[in-house]
Amino acid sequence: MPLLEGKRITRTFGGVEALLRIDFKIQEDEILGLIGPNGAGKTTLFNVITGVYPPTEGQVIYKGEDISGYKPDRISSLGIARTYQLVRTFRGLSVLENVLLGAFYGSEISRPNNNALALQQAGEDLDFLRILELADDPVENLTMGARKKVEIARALATRPKILLLDEVMAGLNPTEIEEMIGIIQKIRERGITVVLIEHHMQAVMNLSDRIVVIHYGQKIAEGAPEDVVNNPKVIEAYLGD
Ligand SMILES: Nc1ncnc2c1ncn2[C@@H]1O[C@H](COP(=O)(O)OP(=O)(O)O)[C@@H](O)[C@H]1O
Ligand SMILES: [Mg+2]
Repeated sequence: MPLLEGKRITRTFGGVEALLRIDFKIQEDEILGLIGPNGAGKTTLFNVITGVYPPTEGQVIYKGEDISGYKPDRISSLGIARTYQLVRTFRGLSVLENVLLGAFYGSEISRPNNNALALQQAGEDLDFLRILELADDPVENLTMGARKKVEIARALATRPKILLLDEVMAGLNPTEIEEMIGIIQKIRERGITVVLIEHHMQAVMNLSDRIVVIHYGQKIAEGAPEDVVNNPKVIEAYLGD
């Protein structure tokens, strides 16, 4: 059984068909790359999976359970975490406080039942991202690279089974991108399944076991990274963009 499955997922906004009958399967422990030109529907797919918008039609199945239409907090408590394309750290809170929020609102089975445990968990995640020294800094003082790490630490603090990363490499310099690739590999080694929306092709190619390509809301290709990038439909979608 796949960990997460989409069945004919359609999402429309007024007349816009952001997603049209998308089928996908994500196996436990894999890194799946999700690519496609701007406006293809990638972020909308994350929004449908995480309950920001219910699908107009179709189903999202997680561990065999139909979770379509569940609210975001319920989906988070089941073990699905994400980051945002436009980073959403909470202003006015410190780095540590941002990550603590993840610990308190995360996966039901591993949610800490006291403050000391939550602090310990958040500390581990900050250390994992190598930003423990920033714990007391206000998030608004951080660089983009550091804020992206805070978002990942917050997502990991929910103790997810699956992590959806929306363009975590955008806006990073080459050194930070190298570091981020290493972080994503280590996340998978922790037994967390990863779905990666990413425009940085070298990074997607290196990290992904499999890649799904969407274009104008439809899946146009799926397979091993080297097959997908040589697929004429994919090349055309990108050249036409
Ligand atoms: N909340 C919304 N309201 C109206 N249109 C939306 C909304 N969210 C996404 N869209 C539209 O859906 C399409 C896909 O957007 P998006 O999922 O953000 O693409 P991507 O992440 O692949 O760049 C775009 O045409 C976008 O304008
Ligand atoms: Mg997007």
